[in-house]
Amino acid sequence: MDKLITIDGPGGSGKGTIAKLLAAKLGWNILDSGALYRLIALISENIKNTDPDKIGLELKDRKIIFELVDDQYHLFFNGKDVSDHIRSEEIGTKASDLAHNQQIRNLIKTTQRSFYDPNIGLIADGRDMGSVVFPTAGIKIYLDATIEERAKRRQIQLKEKGLKVNMPNLISSLEERDLKDKNRKVSPLLIPEGAKVIDSTNLSTEEVVNIVMDLT
Ligand code: C5P
Repeated sequence: MDKLITIDGPGGSGKGTIAKLLAAKLGWNILDSGALYRLIALISENIKNTDPDKIGLELKDRKIIFELVDDQYHLFFNGKDVSDHIRSEEIGTKASDLAHNQQIRNLIKTTQRSFYDPNIGLIADGRDMGSVVFPTAGIKIYLDATIEERAKRRQIQLKEKGLKVNMPNLISSLEERDLKDKNRKVSPLLIPEGAKVIDSTNLSTEEVVNIVMDLT
């Protein structure tokens, strides 16, 4: 698939930041698939139900749009900006729990694929973009960084959103999530076949973007 870059990797590895910068440089759309799993977690909390069929009903015929607001991508669900609601670590953990369920994953696979328009181009970030959702993507990236660096980046993100951060809790929540994401039976986090692995621990965002741009 031309004009399609997948970026997979663990939480806090910088996927979102790199995806945003690449999208701006190339003029392509973005798909933040983690935000979709977080949206499902939010819906599940709201309806107090984890049944994939019930969650599916809530998603049916609803519009899901990523839009730049003040230089940040926001997620609009049926016209409502839900970005602040989905960014907490609690919702992240709940999203990771629900992401184990094959029915949940199938539910949003079609939605994820619908974000790709070959005339525009797409940067898709997540855990299984290059392995399951877009296995024939033209360029596949696996972005990683040490747990300490990832926690530091997540801390900055959460603080910017005015959320309280406890560093030891943040590290253990990221570690717990990594373990779950890597060891689950369905669509585990792994290095997709043909992916370029980038360890961003000691790289600036510009350096990572340049490595990817050299592949285009
Ligand atoms: O990337 P983010 O931290 O927003 O993702 C939240 C959770 O959603 C992840 O921990 C992971 O369990 C799940 N997820 C997934 N597949 C994706 C993207 C996210 O399972 N493609």
